[in-house]
Parts: sequence; structure tokens; C-alpha cells
Amino acid sequence: MYKQLASDKENIEVLLESVKQLTTQHFQQVETIPTSAKPQEVKNYHLPEEGIGAEAVLAQFKTDYQQLMCGSSGPRYWGYVTGGATPASVIGDWLATTFDQNTQSVQGRGDVSAIMEKETIQLLLDFLNLPKTFFGGFVTGATMSNFTCLGVARQWIGKNQGYDIALDGLQKPVQIVTGMPHSSVIKGIAMLGMGSTNIHKIPLLDGREAIDVEKLEDFLKQNASDDVIVLSSAGTVNSVDFDDLKAIATLKETYNFWWHIDAAFGGMVACVEDKKHFVEGWEKADSITVDCHKWFNIPYDSAVFFIQEKHQKRQIETFQNSNAPYLGNPIEDFSYLNFLPENSRRFRALPVWFSLLAYGKKGYQEIVQRNIDVAQKLTNYIETSEKFELVAPTRVNVVCFKVVGLSQEKQDEFLQTLNSRRKIFITPSVYLEQSCFRAAFVNWQTTEKDIVIAIEELEETHHQYI
Ligand SMILES: Cc1ncc(COP(=O)(O)O)c(C=O)c1O
Repeated sequence: MYKQLASDKENIEVLLESVKQLTTQHFQQVETIPTSAKPQEVKNYHLPEEGIGAEAVLAQFKTDYQQLMCGSSGPRYWGYVTGGATPASVIGDWLATTFDQNTQSVQGRGDVSAIMEKETIQLLLDFLNLPKTFFGGFVTGATMSNFTCLGVARQWIGKNQGYDIALDGLQKPVQIVTGMPHSSVIKGIAMLGMGSTNIHKIPLLDGREAIDVEKLEDFLKQNASDDVIVLSSAGTVNSVDFDDLKAIATLKETYNFWWHIDAAFGGMVACVEDKKHFVEGWEKADSITVDCHKWFNIPYDSAVFFIQEKHQKRQIETFQNSNAPYLGNPIEDFSYLNFLPENSRRFRALPVWFSLLAYGKKGYQEIVQRNIDVAQKLTNYIETSEKFELVAPTRVNVVCFKVVGLSQEKQDEFLQTLNSRRKIFITPSVYLEQSCFRAAFVNWQTTEKDIVIAIEELEETHHQYI
């Protein structure tokens, strides 16, 4: 064995002790870590002939990069929709790496990872109040979950039209209708060869990011519905608006379309008493996307798809790894590789299993409610401030706002200045054609005191800038 490999194995306890200390320090100090890193150039690296061993690499990481790791897992990083990592999920993630299971094994044959994955899916369905008629699995993120669900939808449509898209390729256009999809859904449609220009946008309700269901029904009346995919949003990325899922569920009783819901983070309202009506009816969907690295606060990368079990045949046709006879019959010899895009993949269920069991329904409800409350606190400040104004209503956990009386160029500069102070991090967005700043609250550590800091930062930047 190469000398550095042998000595790293010999010293594993000492090495991991150093990593444990670094991780502990991160958990203790994440609140003070700057929320963005200063711009850096890519260094010109050359791979040395001789390895230097893990201890020396760790020292190099500490010197060269540790200080540049931004506080994106901390309480005041509100850009995009960025979750953190709960303590239990970090433990699960470390152990997923330690045990390095081969999740493509056939269920129950020498490996328990598929069984734990199925169990974890049940925990998630319980938490989200979804029925066990859904079959689920883990992929890297909501983008891949949307892709997976839409891949099965595409196959279902081909079969309705009398051909097999997995075998013969796409031969007729698929009709895709939607109101306000996330960009990743459009990317998924492009990757699946269905053509993003085939997306038919149905008008939105006035002043909303939600589809006009009457107009959707008009479309369904005029088109044979069994070659239609209806894409719904359960939480748009800007204003966390929800399509009327209950009304769309009712349409499904009359029209035979495939219904996919992107509930990447908005699905979490299922656990909040006065918000859960937003997802009423979603159990009737054919497929649903939920991210775990957002509001579930699981480390990257982690998301799930839920697809109704009745579509299992179409799912297998889409993803079957059919050239490997040793893998057997996909139903009797169950392996996840016949049900999703990847073959080999990491044991993503483990960190989710750890975190769900560690904190339970109540723990997650508390995180979600606290994030909703802090979003409201920031909203209250903006509503009463003469310096800032809301651009969208705060429905759940995202606040869209801007500075009063500044040109677009100056708004952009303001946001850059605010972020360059490195105490909070917010990303720009466009809400119904209006540019704005957008703060998304999904981190398990964010509390009211972070909003106090944010208000100070906004006031000081305003003072410095105007
Ligand atoms: C509604 C929605 N769908 C999909 C995505 C894409 O998620 P991911 O980056 O995990 O692929 C996002 C990301 O913010 C989102 O908000």
C-alpha cells in the first residue's frame, strides 16, 4: 500500500479528531462567519508526484480555504433558498460517507440502504401528510426531482398516444401547461427533449403568481388532455404563491392529464396549521418534488421525488437499466437504479433519516414556524419604514422588497454594498416584472435576533449609501 495511504489508515483516529474539532468550531462560530467570501482568483495548481498525506492537506485547507468558506449554512444567509445542516443531519451525512454503501444493490441482498431509503420516504410522507400511495426516492436536488417526475410523465403520455418514448424517442409534441414554473422545471423539460418552447403559459390571477384555474380548464376543454402535463407550483420562489391545488385536483376528476407539483420548499407548509390549506388537494397529484437541502436543513445535495405507485410501470420503462441482466426483474429484485436517473449514488437517505428521527414532527414544525415568524418580523419593519417598501406580499417565508426612490442601477448597487458588509446575504429577483431584493428564510438557526441585525445593516447601508 502506498505509504501515505497506510499512514493515514494508521492515524485515522487522530485525523478524524482534527476534523471533529473543525466541525465543532464551525457549529459554534457559524453565526459570526461572513456571509460572503471576497472575490478570489483560481490558483494554478499542479498535482505533485508524491502525496503529502491527509494531515498536511487539512493544514493546507485551513490556510488556503477555510477562511473563505462563507456562512451559507448560518442564520443570516438568505440568498436563493439555502437551508443549513442540522446536527443530526451532519452526523448522518458523515456516516453515509463512512459506510459508503452501494445503493444500487438489489434490496435485501447484502445491503440495507434501499430498505432505509424506503423507510425514510415513509417518514417524509408522514411529515407532509401525504398518502403512502406515493413511491419515492432520493436525487440530488429539486431540479433532478422535477426531471425524474417529468421523465415518467413523458413516458405516460407516449403510452397514451400508443408508443413508447423510452424505446422509440419522442415523436409528437407533448403539451405542457403551467402558470409560474421555477426555472429548473423549464430546464428539465429542455433536458427531456420535450422542448421548452412547447410550454404553454396559462395566464396568472391578477397580481398573483398563481395560475388562473378557469383559463386552465378552458385549455383542457379545447385539447385532448391525456397528452398534457400540468405543472403546478406549491410555493413560487419569489412570493411563495400557490396554485389552487384543490381546484386543480377537482379538474383531474374530469380531465386525464399528468399533474406534477413543484413543492421544493413550499410543501413544508403542510405542517403549519394556518398555512396547510395551501397544499390541500396535492395528494391527488401524479408526482411531487420536495427538496431536502432547503427547509429540511439536510446538507447538500438532497431532494426527493414522489410518484404515485400506480405509475410504477411507466417509471421502470423510463429508467430501467435494462442491459444488466444480473440485476434481475425490476419489481421482484428491487433496486433504485431502475427507478431514477442515477445508477451509483451516495446513501442520501441516511442524513434525512437521522434528522427526521432526531427532531420529529414538533422539531420541524418549530423550525418552519420560526422562519415564517422572522419573515413576518422583517416584513413589519419594511412596512413601517420610509426607506424601504415591499414589492410582494409576504405569504410564508420570503420577503421581496426594495429601496424607496432609487433607480434600478442604484438598487443593484445598494444590494452589492449591503452584501459586501458580509453580515447578511440577500439575492436579487424579479417579481411580476418588478426588480427587487429577496430574503428567503429556511435556516434552522435563524431567530429574531438575526432580524435585529438585518435591520441595523439595512439602516446603516441606507445611511452610507444615500
Ligand atoms: C420552487 C423551486 N423549484 C426548484 C428549485 C431548484 O432546486 P435545486 O437547486 O435543489 O435543484 C428551487 C430552488 O430554489 C425552487 O425554489
